[in-house]
Amino acid sequence: MDCYSRDSKSFRVEICLSCSMFSKLFGKKKKEESKYDHLPLPETPDWSVLGADMHSHFLPGIDDGAKDINDSLLLLKTMAELGYKTIITTPHIFVDYHPNTTETIGAALAITQQAIKENNIDITLRAAAEYYLDDYFSQLMDKEPLLAIYNNEVLVEFSMMFEPPDLAQTLFKMQTSGYKPIIAHPERYQFFHRNLDKYRELKDRGCLLQLNMLSIAGYYGAAVKTVAEQLLEKGMYDYCGSDAHHEKHLSVLRAMACSRDYYKFANYPFLNSRLST
Ligand SMILES: [Fe+2]
Repeated sequence: MDCYSRDSKSFRVEICLSCSMFSKLFGKKKKEESKYDHLPLPETPDWSVLGADMHSHFLPGIDDGAKDINDSLLLLKTMAELGYKTIITTPHIFVDYHPNTTETIGAALAITQQAIKENNIDITLRAAAEYYLDDYFSQLMDKEPLLAIYNNEVLVEFSMMFEPPDLAQTLFKMQTSGYKPIIAHPERYQFFHRNLDKYRELKDRGCLLQLNMLSIAGYYGAAVKTVAEQLLEKGMYDYCGSDAHHEKHLSVLRAMACSRDYYKFANYPFLNSRLST
């Protein structure tokens, strides 16, 4: 599947675990981004400034994220070490690849919450979903309540290859059904890169935009990073999320916390803080 398999392929830089190595690798690219150059590099990785993470794949064995409960615990322990207190994890609901339901997500959440307790991991875990916009989703909307991130706000994604021809209609239907769409990682939809007004149109339609933190690190390539920087600079984003699937993603997140990219998040009014419990 395009959006999942492309992650690892596009990341051409060897992951480093230490902050100093990260700054050597990525620091040279920051020359034109001087806004935070005068600030010191953060000494310890700490994302507590965000309050909560609202996009990840940490439930065991139900999508392309954590493989089993041990994997889930390892990832959640790392998130706690990175300063997160609240996680709203978002398994895919994509009928062709990850046919999750409210029930499969609820069951996996209960198992994971119990394991968190037994292993004394200091983190609050809740679950919503990352819905793929397709015909199944439209039918689901008519059948049952969707799993929301906050109030009526629902995280959605769509094809990374082609702009869905019925995107506007689907988003409108969500709104008339009482939901507010949060568009996951809009910077990753390369068909929007040709016309940045598309992002403004989404905002004008009442959608919220969610930045993938790794986009700022260049994890998905230079073009995605450039668009993410532009949208961030223009104040277009509402939420940020790790979209973490595995330990490699968290290694990048850890390294970013000790780079000057940290300040781009720390100084932006993301809505994540209202998700904390
Ligand atoms: Fe995701």
